Amino acid sequence: MYNKKFKGDVCSHSHSFFLDNFVRRILQNPKRIIGEYIREGDTSIDLGCGPGYFSIDMAQLAGKTGKMIAVDLQEEMLTKVGKKAAAKNMSERIHLHQCDQNRIGLPPETKADFILAFYMVHETPDKGAFLEQVKELLRPGGKFLLVEPIFHVSKIQFEKILAVAGKIGFKQVDRPKRKGGRSVLLSI
Ligand SMILES: C[S@@+](CC[C@H](N)C(=O)[O-])C[C@H]1O[C@@H](n2cnc3c(N)ncnc32)[C@H](O)[C@@H]1O
Repeated sequence: MYNKKFKGDVCSHSHSFFLDNFVRRILQNPKRIIGEYIREGDTSIDLGCGPGYFSIDMAQLAGKTGKMIAVDLQEEMLTKVGKKAAAKNMSERIHLHQCDQNRIGLPPETKADFILAFYMVHETPDKGAFLEQVKELLRPGGKFLLVEPIFHVSKIQFEKILAVAGKIGFKQVDRPKRKGGRSVLLSI
């Protein structure tokens, strides 16, 4: 279940079927979850994109003039996203970026209108250091949707993540319901 190449409980690419299948599409429809945050022409980043369950819809929502960056530390996950993008003729709009476990490593000039971190922050070894880097990638006024799984992250653990985000300078815009887990919409 976990990829032992990395520190902590990083969900292995060999289990990516659980992250993209018809049951999840019924329970966690991507457009219902992220549709309200992305506009035509936007730049968006899917952090810890996994096999790209949200990445394709994020790119579709931003249209041909938009840009979508799928980021993951597992090359195998990015290969899956790349294949889906090619199948949809969207390779030009979907950029793949392999990061390190402690460093996102996108060029400093990268600024996003929308960033998604779905079921991934609990897998990062240093949440404060990770969220600092997310802040650098967000355009002022941009939105950052952070969703954590109820079955892995307790209410208390989620509140601790929010406290760290607050210290770094994120403002809570919303605590949206029906996003598939413990959810917060942040901005700077
Ligand atoms: C549980 S999966 C969720 C995937 C996707 N967000 C989804 O909802 O389908 C977590 C993903 O985060 C990635 N991940 C874990 N730690 C990471 C880190 N420090 N930086 C980037 N990606 C990371 C893992 O490789 C895995 O693909």
